[in-house]
Amino acid sequence: MAQPANNDSNVLTTLDDRVPTAFYWQLTLLATLGGFLFGYDTSNIGSALNFVPYGLHGLALGYLVSGASLGAAAGALFAGPVSDHFGRKPLLVVDAGIYATGAILSAITPDAPVLLIARTLIGVAIGADSAIATAYISEYAPKERRGSLAMLQQWMITVGILVAYIIALIIFSAFPASAASSGWRLVLGLGAVPALVGLALRTQMPESPRWLLRHGRYEDVRKAMAALGTQASLDDVHRAAAVIEQVEGDKSRRRAWTPGVRRALIVVCVFFIFQQITGINVPLYYGPHLLGPIFSGPHASLVSTTVAGVEVTAIMTSVNVAATYLGFRWIDKFGRRILAMGGYAGMIVFALVAAAGLAFFSGTPRLVVIMIGLDFFIASFAIGVGGTGWTLQGEVFPTAVRGQAAAFAAMIDWLANFALIEVFPVWQNAISLGGVLVCFAGLCALAIVFVYRFLPETKGLPVEEIVRIFEQQPATHGGPQPTGGGPGPRIQPGTSA
Ligand code: BGC
Repeated sequence: MAQPANNDSNVLTTLDDRVPTAFYWQLTLLATLGGFLFGYDTSNIGSALNFVPYGLHGLALGYLVSGASLGAAAGALFAGPVSDHFGRKPLLVVDAGIYATGAILSAITPDAPVLLIARTLIGVAIGADSAIATAYISEYAPKERRGSLAMLQQWMITVGILVAYIIALIIFSAFPASAASSGWRLVLGLGAVPALVGLALRTQMPESPRWLLRHGRYEDVRKAMAALGTQASLDDVHRAAAVIEQVEGDKSRRRAWTPGVRRALIVVCVFFIFQQITGINVPLYYGPHLLGPIFSGPHASLVSTTVAGVEVTAIMTSVNVAATYLGFRWIDKFGRRILAMGGYAGMIVFALVAAAGLAFFSGTPRLVVIMIGLDFFIASFAIGVGGTGWTLQGEVFPTAVRGQAAAFAAMIDWLANFALIEVFPVWQNAISLGGVLVCFAGLCALAIVFVYRFLPETKGLPVEEIVRIFEQQPATHGGPQPTGGGPGPRIQPGTSA
């Protein structure tokens, strides 16, 4: 039912202070559908790989595995200017279409080149989607629940990863004889189903009210607000436009790249680099490959080794989904800083546990200690690091350049993802898997220092105020910042700063 806006409010305060309705959650699920596809597609290739019959090796093989990440970096880069110019919704609709095309193409591919093109298309779509999904969400989310709503992106990623493994498990263990003919095609192609559903449903989404405000489309703002369940008067809209104007200055995008915005961009990019180089995707992407032989024994067939690896990885990905729930519950309660530092601290402990399992144990205890270490390593990431990064990416930039800045940060995330995955095999050969895990623990410790020193707390603040915090933060000092309820520089939308 429509909630009337109160008389002193403007569109921004109304958005900030609302209680999310069922429609908000549905809309957020739709916005994060690309997160599901992101998880599904970065993971399905790991299970399908053993059965792709084109004899790929060297660079082509590397591209098959990591090409989606590289395509994603390119997709993220193009998404920024496109979404700032044409709006968030058109981009989200087009992405679903590109994704569906790539998935169908990879299922019916006649040869290796078409498969590589299909993987690139998929990458472009998931990259563009990841660039803009949390920005879109932050532009309508109530301030007290913005973290939880954005955390759905992380949740959808983890569900996508899990579903990729479950589908591979069902297809390869139920029909082992067709694994190398139709099995792998089905695993790759099934992603088209949610993409086509998303394509149909996303056309019904409202455009982001903040983006519409920024573009002076005031009548459309009222329509978007009505779709979100609130009646906004033209006065509400004008008051909100005045606040955005006051906080973000004039309309020139070039001039919107202030020192504070650049500082926010650096903080988010560094956060994303740590998110990737601390190793989360090693167990997730290489899980079947690394753990299959450890868990299936030396004389198993290719199909049973793959199935054993996929089973173990499916357990880890279930932990990933479950633990993300805690992140969802806690991000708006404890804030981004505590969650991230706690997450990295857990990753340190459990990377070392897994490394100790590899180095000092044998037989069943070895398997148990490795599994405990890796599962809790993933859980710590899921609670504190994964979703926190994507939440920050959506919330810390001003509306005028949110698309571009969020997209640039997503590109950095994908490039770091690609680099780590490329480097890992060489790294592992040089110092063993246990050695790499110890390095991950060291990098997590650096990440804690970085978060403590440079990440301001953004929990519970209106997005317009977050921008102001970065503007007022001296370049060399991060440190603990005012929290939503704490002291510090505050502006209230609708009042003079
Ligand atoms: C990361 C991905 C990772 C996923 C795991 C995301 O936040 O960006 O690279 O695969 O979390 O759940």
